[in-house]
Amino acid sequence: MGKNSKLRAADKAQNDEFYTQYADIQMEVNAYLEYNPDVFRGKTILLPCDDPEWSNFTRFFAENFEFFGLKKLISTSFAVESKNSKWYEPTLFETEAPNYDATKTRTHGKIFVLDRDINNSGRIDLDDLQWEYLHGDGDFRSKEVCALRDEADVIITNPPFSLFREFVAWIMEANKQFLIIGNQNALTYKEIFPLIKANRMWTGCRFNRRVNGDNMTFMVPDDYPMKGTELYVEDGKKYISVAGTGWFTNIDHGRRHQPLQLMTMSDNIKYSKHKEVKDIGYVKYDNYDALEVPFSDAIPSDYTEPMGVPISFMSKFCPEQFEIIDGIGRYSVLDNERTKKEGKYLSMVDGQPKFFRIIIRKKQ
Ligand SMILES: C[S@@+](CC[C@H](N)C(=O)[O-])C[C@H]1O[C@@H](n2cnc3c(N)ncnc32)[C@H](O)[C@@H]1O
Repeated sequence: MGKNSKLRAADKAQNDEFYTQYADIQMEVNAYLEYNPDVFRGKTILLPCDDPEWSNFTRFFAENFEFFGLKKLISTSFAVESKNSKWYEPTLFETEAPNYDATKTRTHGKIFVLDRDINNSGRIDLDDLQWEYLHGDGDFRSKEVCALRDEADVIITNPPFSLFREFVAWIMEANKQFLIIGNQNALTYKEIFPLIKANRMWTGCRFNRRVNGDNMTFMVPDDYPMKGTELYVEDGKKYISVAGTGWFTNIDHGRRHQPLQLMTMSDNIKYSKHKEVKDIGYVKYDNYDALEVPFSDAIPSDYTEPMGVPISFMSKFCPEQFEIIDGIGRYSVLDNERTKKEGKYLSMVDGQPKFFRIIIRKKQ
């Protein structure tokens, strides 16, 4: 591996170790429960790519096991020896347990299961979690974790950043419900965009949105290098705030059925708050038959032909209001081969390339 690709691999590996905060999980899951209080009732939830003894995902779902009416909660972890990052913190929970194994703790994944009241406390909660080492390292692609996936109804996690495409394909091939964290750039991937277009995957409730002024923030390992303003330390723990991050899902929630409130084209031209639109209007792309709309709130409500909007539109997308027909940048995501052959930059106006654009059309 060359020096640059080594650095890139190291960077990627670091981004795989971002740990989700309890409040972020709670806020997101509440949105689905608000829409359908029985969304998890009678279901088996799998939390893969986790570190169950201290993961907030495991704690949150174990604490709410009865409230959500779950049938079974399973979470699995990935062995430290298989991780790119060697940050390792065995917990007392593990080291003081009778089944603790000083070798396996580094080489094997772990599985935690919650499905009944083991300690006869009269309720099923965190104290009833049972654990053991997996046969392998807990790789989500391994046979044993695939079998757990097949058993589950819903897959929930913050998957490794560098394997996002593969992780989504892994869920899709088993046709499961899911709620996962990812970056908004994933919308432009040729493996992901067709799923968005087909309404098999959409953005969750929080997506690239600041809450109380902050982007989504993750805890990072103690050895994470403190470079960049997006990193800070609180109570001895390191955190990173990551712009453009949010939830992807195929579980329904109320926000996605709220249509955008929009003005007509002539009102936009008269009153738009955007100087790029006010008194100027709209133009079509040089090499693609659609109207360039540079801001989601400048979509003209009375335009019925294809329009290109920035990817931030996805968090405002309401499938009853618009349909998605393509994604364009250098090429069309859906017609990559043909447009590549033609070598035409597609999201371009007057010779100036725009960022990736989602092509939408108003539903009649
Ligand atoms: C982004 S972190 C999230 C951890 C935890 N789910 C959370 O949100 O707090 C992704 C985790 O997946 C692990 N991981 C990396 N590659 C994996 C693989 N092939 N199979 C399973 N887990 C993997 C990483 O080591 C890391 O612990």
